Amino acid sequence: MIYNIAIDGPAGAGKSTIARRVARELSFVYVDTGAMYRAMALYLLRQKVNREDPAEIERVCQGAEISIEYKDGEQIVLLNGENVNAFLRTEEVGNMASVSSANPEVRKRLLDLQRKLAKSMSVVMDGRDIGTTILPEADVKIFLTASPLTRARRRCLELEEKGVFCDLAQIQKDIEERDRRDMNREISPLKKAEDAVLVDSSDMTIDEVVKNILQIYREKVINSKKRAE
Ligand code: DC
Repeated sequence: MIYNIAIDGPAGAGKSTIARRVARELSFVYVDTGAMYRAMALYLLRQKVNREDPAEIERVCQGAEISIEYKDGEQIVLLNGENVNAFLRTEEVGNMASVSSANPEVRKRLLDLQRKLAKSMSVVMDGRDIGTTILPEADVKIFLTASPLTRARRRCLELEEKGVFCDLAQIQKDIEERDRRDMNREISPLKKAEDAVLVDSSDMTIDEVVKNILQIYREKVINSKKRAE
């Protein structure tokens, strides 16, 4: 049996940490769709596109071939054959991804890749529109969120651990700006699917969130198996 778990939510809610852990517990593959949008954004930055010009983004994005490989359980994003994982987690790439992911042509280029991955194996896939658009039939849908301040604090800790200076107020402003863009874009806006379970991680530990999602998954799968009997 192939099972799909969709985890959506805003930037910094802890989606990737949680999704990776849930995938490990269930021996599923973790699919990070944000990394695919980031790889596309990296390509657009390298091509020096004007981020204010949707027609230019639409034209230039045709030159990016994005594919995925798995090595020791880790997702490797290939951009025109180059492993670009090391370049994806910067604020510059994240901000560009937030702009370019609103472009319908960019989304179209990544949609097939995401659906094919979920069809071929059991996955925990995280993103913004997985439960609503990419995998509307997912077995479990989670909408994971946390307050903007909590998310900014988490992002700052992450940066400080890497020895990068962090301006908490600026990070919070960037997060709110990104939320606004992600939630208000015309195509596949960030929103909770009607049948998704809302999990607010502001006052929860990672372990608690993982446990909660595993519980939801087990109840769902056991119930559907019972129904099938
Ligand atoms: O989750 P992340 O920060 O790596 O995502 C980077 C950007 O990509 C984010 O601003 C929203 C966008 N994104 C999207 O539009 N749809 C997805 N499924 C995943 C990410």
